[in-house]
Amino acid sequence: MAVSGVDLDVGAGELVILLGPSGCGKSTLLRIVAGVEIPTAGRVLIDGRDVTDLPPQKRDVAMVFQNYALYPHMTVRENLAFGLRMRRVQRAAVDTRVGQVAENLGIMELLERKPAQLSGGQRQRVALGRAIARNPKLFLLDEPLSNLDVQLRVTTRLELARLHRSLRVPMLYVTHDQEEAITLGDRVAVMNNGRLLQVDTPMKIYAQPATRFVGGFVGSPRMNFFTADLRAAGDDNIEMTALDGALRLQLARGGDAGPHRPARPNREPEASRCRVTVGIRPEDIAIGKAPDVDLVGRVEMVEPLGREVLVHVVAGGAEGARATELRLLTLPETSVQVGSDVGLSLERERLHFFDPVSEKRLIDPMAGQRLAGLA
Ligand SMILES: Nc1ncnc2c1ncn2[C@@H]1O[C@H](COP(=O)(O)OP(=O)(O)OP(=O)(O)O)[C@@H](O)[C@H]1O
Ligand SMILES: [Mg+2]
Repeated sequence: MAVSGVDLDVGAGELVILLGPSGCGKSTLLRIVAGVEIPTAGRVLIDGRDVTDLPPQKRDVAMVFQNYALYPHMTVRENLAFGLRMRRVQRAAVDTRVGQVAENLGIMELLERKPAQLSGGQRQRVALGRAIARNPKLFLLDEPLSNLDVQLRVTTRLELARLHRSLRVPMLYVTHDQEEAITLGDRVAVMNNGRLLQVDTPMKIYAQPATRFVGGFVGSPRMNFFTADLRAAGDDNIEMTALDGALRLQLARGGDAGPHRPARPNREPEASRCRVTVGIRPEDIAIGKAPDVDLVGRVEMVEPLGREVLVHVVAGGAEGARATELRLLTLPETSVQVGSDVGLSLERERLHFFDPVSEKRLIDPMAGQRLAGLA
């Protein structure tokens, strides 16, 4: 089954991004909402009305398909006007509307051309325009910017955001580009393998990924992961050991922002030791001077990214174990030599803990581990 167990709500005037890797079921979900695919189970509601049994044309949704299909024998102008003419909108009103939309999308000079005379990116904008011109109850957009070059993608993205603000029509927008998702979405729904993993604001998804997959998928460069052993040290502290002993941290339980919330009252006694997956983003590791650092590693590679530099460091690997690679971001001014040792500091409040089996985020790593039955 391409998609299952999905429960997603797009609020009035909201732009919800459906984000996930290729093949995870994004288009399938969109096609179900549009009515071109029939679900074997579940319901689709638009404006509170059950439309599960309605054909696409009765749902009042406009969909821009991934392989946008324009009417090849019609000009751009006729393509844009088609939906309105079908609904018998008056000619003058149609002309005005088409003009507005074409202006907004920067395709005024293309109005008299046929689709075959357009580039892929131009066709994509016409497909977008055709959906916008119709003034639907809901927009379904399937990777509407995928064929545009980087510059055009950024400007069209801004245009879409502006348009969405002025139209106030809800949008469900598919992309596999996490940058597009974060910049455009009121909320982001992260999918993998046909399931929804998390639906939250972009900042919440970035700061508190619900699973290891979400942590790794959202954010660039990618989050680092490694295995760690945790040991309770009194009621308030946790000792973390990782990277074959190269990393030892004392963590406080109970910070507000961090994952270490105060223990819930009346809980059963918990494990004193457990094993977790730790995630930390490259922007949350800093280069420092020994001895005020958490660990020392060796620089393997340095990648200038322009404003920042991505440094690959290997650490751990004592007694024949495989070393772990950690990626971190630093400023170009920081001098790092390939092959040399560097000290690293990890932002305590930005450590993410995941259950190594279920891969779910652990709010209190010690308690979570006990629930997972692994202690
Ligand atoms: N008509 C179909 N019959 C059977 N399987 C299908 C059909 N359409 C898609 N699939 C499968 O369902 C899964 C989800 O496909 P879908 O097109 O929804 O992915 P997607 O998330 O949109 O990917 P992409 O980012 O590559 O467009 C894929 O494994 C795909 O091969
Ligand atoms: Mg798709």
